Amino acid sequence: MNCAEWITYILACRTRKRSQRAFGLNSDTRMRYADGQARNHDYGRMNQHIPILEREVIEALRADDPAVKRLIDGTVGGGGHTLALLRAGIEEALGIDLDRSAIVQATDRLSEYVDRARLVHGSYMAMAEAANALGWEAVDAILLDLGTSSLQMDDPERGFSFRFDAPLDMRFDEHGGGATAHDLVNGLSAAKLADLFYRYGEERSAGRIAGAIVEQRPIHTTRQLAELVARVKPKPARRSTKRHPATKVFQALRIAVNRELESVENALPIAVNLLRPGGRLAVITFHSLEDRIVKQAFRKLSTTVTAPPGMASIEEMVAQVQRVNRKPIVPSLEEVRANPRSRSAKLRVVEKLERA
Ligand SMILES: C[S@@+](CC[C@H](N)C(=O)[O-])C[C@H]1O[C@@H](n2cnc3c(N)ncnc32)[C@H](O)[C@@H]1O
Repeated sequence: MNCAEWITYILACRTRKRSQRAFGLNSDTRMRYADGQARNHDYGRMNQHIPILEREVIEALRADDPAVKRLIDGTVGGGGHTLALLRAGIEEALGIDLDRSAIVQATDRLSEYVDRARLVHGSYMAMAEAANALGWEAVDAILLDLGTSSLQMDDPERGFSFRFDAPLDMRFDEHGGGATAHDLVNGLSAAKLADLFYRYGEERSAGRIAGAIVEQRPIHTTRQLAELVARVKPKPARRSTKRHPATKVFQALRIAVNRELESVENALPIAVNLLRPGGRLAVITFHSLEDRIVKQAFRKLSTTVTAPPGMASIEEMVAQVQRVNRKPIVPSLEEVRANPRSRSAKLRVVEKLERA
């Protein structure tokens, strides 16, 4: 093994160990995994992110059409969608992720396609640069599967989930600098925290929670924060849902830490620009804030506005795409049953126009 291969191997072992700790697996289970026998299958599934709306994504991106050769998966995660798309007929894939552990997992999962899949650590906002570095001027298909992966949610050390006690981090790029959830929780004013919880979490008790945080800081861990939210949220609101009372606060912090909404808003025109005429962009969202951004951006990108004579003040626009589906594609009941994490997924797809 050369030096780079050793580093990838060591990172892969670290990531696998972390996942094993997350699931409380013992050395016996690990040994069985290492054996590669059929009985390790359950662990294999748990250790991987299950790609959501997989069949629908393959169809939407027409992966089995011989004319569809090049794919960018801007959120490669554990590599599940990329793997399915390569198996369905995509010739070459460029996978991008902000999370180094995801790149390690995807490298492992896509090992059978080592010649056809390139993986890059970075933001999907830089997909044009990453594509150009491969000599790709345009691509046939782009996928953005937004939000967090199971690898991140089930990692007890990343601070994404209130199921584990961990430092409040929540950065997708954990070594990339930038503010952590800890910085926001302990640094923002009560007004700013309340605004953040309301805007990104649609949390109705935002003001009350923010006030309690400011009173009781410093708050260092996910458990401290989750327990505080559970204590201060009004009881009726708590009883009206089966979700943990801190779900929206955690979502809001994660979105703010990773600037998720700004990133997707900026990335959509970049992605459309990179498509060849007839190429398709598919985006999977997991909450209404993201879906609204995608829906509005797709509507704008598919609209032509011509100013009538004498109305030069009207901004003219030429449609660049057509919407493949007006209503979002959602998972089937079977998929939701098999993978409850898919329940809020929505898939929207556009196709670049020939003359754009
Ligand atoms: C839902 S997961 C993708 C799972 C993947 N489709 C699979 O089948 O394994 C979303 C991924 O997007 C990554 N991500 C989030 N924001 C990103 C950004 N701005 N640029 C690149 N990757 C990003 C996250 O780190 C995470 O791994």
